[in-house]
Amino acid sequence: MKLSLFNPSDTQSVIRLFTEVFTTSEGKSEGEVIGTLVTNLIATTKPQELIGFTASDDDGIIACIFFSRFIVPNKQSAFILAPVAVATQHQGLGTGQKLIRYGLDYLKRQMVDLVFTYGDPAFYTKTGFKPIAETVVKAPFALSEPIGWLAQSLDGHPIETMQGATQCVEALSDSKYW
Ligand SMILES: CC(C)(COP(=O)(O)OP(=O)(O)OC[C@H]1O[C@@H](n2cnc3c(N)ncnc32)[C@H](O)[C@@H]1OP(=O)(O)O)[C@@H](O)C(=O)NCCC(=O)NCCS
Repeated sequence: MKLSLFNPSDTQSVIRLFTEVFTTSEGKSEGEVIGTLVTNLIATTKPQELIGFTASDDDGIIACIFFSRFIVPNKQSAFILAPVAVATQHQGLGTGQKLIRYGLDYLKRQMVDLVFTYGDPAFYTKTGFKPIAETVVKAPFALSEPIGWLAQSLDGHPIETMQGATQCVEALSDSKYW
């Protein structure tokens, strides 16, 4: 398996991957919602504010993750991980965790301080994320499942409590994702 930075030439394969994976796991409408999210994320996010990673085997891309710029009140450098997909027939083999660790290592080398995500703690705590209270760092929208608000520090310092609002990129700025 080869892990790489997302390349714009991967766009169609990656949109197809997310649509198929989420259609299988959550149903047709969620597949379309996530396919559209990825389309918008790639189309509307400045290159320096979006970093994607792919895992490929001989047949092509089998997993993909995106990190996008996340603005926090204390001006530390932060990204948010979303979305994440591993091809259905490749799930449960460690690929998702490997790709996330690969992405986190890359962000750490880029001197990123904090990474957030919003998802199932049972999965994301395996790669260093921990639940974070909204009294410490607010989510950008009202959360339907506050238990899924997760973060980790990459700079070796504990996450400090911050007053004020946070901001995600435009493609994620829709309450339906939160
Ligand atoms: C969730 C997903 C990204 C995990 O990637 P993966 O390569 O299948 O997972 P890994 O093999 O690296 O990790 C497996 C571990 O995570 C757990 N895990 C896997 N999928 C999980 C899920 N959907 N929710 C909670 N835990 C999950 C497993 O219990 C397993 O734990 P174990 O090793 O202790 O048995 C992948 O299954 C996927 O794309 N699912 C459909 C889309 C999705 O739900 N995306 C994430 C949205 S938050």
